[in-house]
Amino acid sequence: MKITVVGGGYVGLVSGACFAHLGHEVLIVEKLKEKLELLKEGKSPIYEPGLDELLEEGIKGKRLHFTDSLKEAADFSEVLFICVGTPSLADGSPDLSQVDQVVRDVARRMNSYKVFVEKSTVPVNTHKRIEGVVRRYLKDKSLEFDVVSNPEFLKEGAAVDDFLNPDRIVVGVSSQRAKEIMEEIYRPLVEKGAPLFITDPASAEIIKHAANAFLATKISFINMVSDLCEATGANVDAVADGLGFDKRIGRAFLNAGIGWGGSCFPKDLKAFVKIAEEFAVDFSLLKEVERINERRIELLMKKLKDALWTLRSKRIALWGLSFKPNTDDIREAPSIKVVQRLLKEGATVSAYDPKATDNFRRLFVEGEDLRYAKDKYEALKDAEALLILTEWQEFKEADLTKVKELMEVPIIVDGRNIYDPDEVKAMGFEYYSIGR
Ligand code: UDX
Repeated sequence: MKITVVGGGYVGLVSGACFAHLGHEVLIVEKLKEKLELLKEGKSPIYEPGLDELLEEGIKGKRLHFTDSLKEAADFSEVLFICVGTPSLADGSPDLSQVDQVVRDVARRMNSYKVFVEKSTVPVNTHKRIEGVVRRYLKDKSLEFDVVSNPEFLKEGAAVDDFLNPDRIVVGVSSQRAKEIMEEIYRPLVEKGAPLFITDPASAEIIKHAANAFLATKISFINMVSDLCEATGANVDAVADGLGFDKRIGRAFLNAGIGWGGSCFPKDLKAFVKIAEEFAVDFSLLKEVERINERRIELLMKKLKDALWTLRSKRIALWGLSFKPNTDDIREAPSIKVVQRLLKEGATVSAYDPKATDNFRRLFVEGEDLRYAKDKYEALKDAEALLILTEWQEFKEADLTKVKELMEVPIIVDGRNIYDPDEVKAMGFEYYSIGR
């Protein structure tokens, strides 16, 4: 089938490239000139394992095209995936203006049946809003159209794999015609065994928010438990392992640490709480989930101060700037608040990240008090403490003997529990971690 994808960001680019890989012909609309140029050269503006290969394959196979013209997009296919950004507004509700803009522009040009597919994360009942906008801007009011919810469940750093090997595909439809089109689009994955869960649009919209809210709740739960483990000398990783054997609980997303960040959990939780409030439903549990998460930074800074007494003019090495491993994304990364606090307290920071430094540098320029090291060992020179904020594999595999030699004072504050406490303490490190 022919598919139009509007928005060439994390979701649109991965979805478009994967649809092309499944054999569809895809047109991706990207309005930012510099991004569009990169894409046309087959270069991905984002770091996502496996994406470059899919872009090259799609472009070579003439199944993947790029444009900045919404007119071209509106005419290219009868299915239009909306993959534009829905960032948080100040009050926590999502900014849906880009969704509104796309729908208006396409509706004005429509001259045949079209399916508008919500792939961006939107609050429940947004499909009704989109129906209203299409009706208002359609020139030929007799034209038929459908609005479908098809939320993404792509983890950054694993998005291509998550798309091609999904736990489930969720589709919210309200017509047989739209249902058949979505079945056709996802047939290659369904034939490989991916469950296709068909429901109504409102339920599909809620499934997305509820999934992220539950995952964030699971993480805040184990982080809350880690506080008790720390106070009682228990080991939160052992507790998580013990919990994980229960199939109803599962081990995944029970890693205690400095909490969740990224472009989804923070935004989606705020949006879910906000939309519930609009329906006079009080999501107090999720407000507590957010509070527990925010407290992680305080707890980490307290550990560092307990170890170093004062931070002024202390040399702190920082490993990990991205919000999680295998991505260059720093949105809502714990590193942002931690670096702000360290600089405010007068520490001198030497930071390293395998992929995210360039993005981070746009927020914090280098200066007397902040340097970016070219590798993890250079960051350690004369450091009086090492702060680990992201569990990149290369940090787990670091040569700790070399680490100890390079540092002036062998203190490690491990925000992601990547080392074994007994091992590093036996090597002479003063070691602090979470809940252990
Ligand atoms: C998430 C959802 O997983 C994905 O399904 C959705 O489509 C988008 O949002 P993402 O935000 O990319 O994906 O990353 P994820 O791997 O879910 O991690 C989210 C945050 O939770 C990260 O900050 C990570 O460090 C943190 N995390 C994750 C924990 O602190 N502990 C864990 O056990 C797992």
